[in-house]
Amino acid sequence: MKTPFSVLLLASVLCFGPALAIITKNNWSYAGAGDTDQEFWKDIDGSFCDGSSQSPINIVTKWTREIERAPFNLQSYDTTIDATVENNGHALEIEVSKMPGEGHYDVTGGGLSGTFRAVQFHFHFGSNSMQGSEHTIDGERYPAEMHIVHYDTAYSSVSEAVKNKGGIAVLGFFLEVDDDDNSALDIILDQASNLMRPHTHQEMAGFTLSNLLPSSLDKFWRYDGSLTTPLCNEVVTWTLFEDTIKISNNQLNITRTLMSDAIDEAGYEMPMENNFRDIQSRGIRTIYAVTADDDYGMSPTPTASAGKSAPGAMIVLDAFLVAMALRF
Ligand SMILES: *[C@@H]1O[C@H](CO)[C@@H](O)[C@H](O)[C@H]1NC(C)=O
Ligand SMILES: *[C@@H]1O[C@H](CO)[C@@H](O)[C@H](O)[C@H]1NC(C)=O
Repeated sequence: MKTPFSVLLLASVLCFGPALAIITKNNWSYAGAGDTDQEFWKDIDGSFCDGSSQSPINIVTKWTREIERAPFNLQSYDTTIDATVENNGHALEIEVSKMPGEGHYDVTGGGLSGTFRAVQFHFHFGSNSMQGSEHTIDGERYPAEMHIVHYDTAYSSVSEAVKNKGGIAVLGFFLEVDDDDNSALDIILDQASNLMRPHTHQEMAGFTLSNLLPSSLDKFWRYDGSLTTPLCNEVVTWTLFEDTIKISNNQLNITRTLMSDAIDEAGYEMPMENNFRDIQSRGIRTIYAVTADDDYGMSPTPTASAGKSAPGAMIVLDAFLVAMALRF
């Protein structure tokens, strides 16, 4: 089915010249640009955007499965670094992978298997405060969403990790409107006036990732999904934290000054705002509502916390006794 269509496509390009647009991984857009909009992402060469485990999704909280996992352990997130802030044409992105010395932003725990290293984080945001986030919670959109993209250090690089299921872990945070400016965001937003044009970047000295994070990382949703931009690889272990990052309307307005690299159908350059993908089908996937538990996995039988049943309760009791024995 695919071959005849591409032959047909090639034939029409040859016959009728450049009138027929082709979408590539370098010129995709969200909406309003015509042939490169998200409904055509599946046509990009090598795309997974038509798969059955795509992101973002709507999380229906009453359909989630409650579980406990060890807390997240963020290593060196409090290290101050010099980072690059970039308008990459479709998001405001901060590169954090080229850190001096050994202080990588590494994360373990939180139910992740292995060590995941941050390479960049970026923001999705809307043209008004009623929209902007990619994921929704019970149908509700937040005005923005921040994604910290990590790769499994079992792979040599992010480009290797992205070829393997579970190779990428994204820590996602919803932003919520607050009356006051969030001073931790200022260091990034102060760069925005120099980043209005797509494909521009700025150096940002003295940045500390942990300053941005909400106070609690102990409640989150977890599911297996994809990158939310082409090629939509289905390799992402998603974490979406319940606790939000605060942002003022004034600060949201600054994000809305950024321009994307998309051109609308009338030929005008488009703003970056509304850079969120449509909600994708959950399908048969389970969404977990996770609570971090300091004692999780401390017992010799990690299945212990699963139990509400009698045998489970016995194991929990065992674990408790072991913990007590270790303590005293
Ligand atoms: C996207 O890029 C490809 C390759 O450069 C080009 O052939 C195509 O026309 C572009 N599509 C649009 C809509 O500009
Ligand atoms: C943000 O921009 C909107 C639209 O231009 C404006 O109505 C609003 O007053 C601005 N808000 C702040 C806090 O600057």
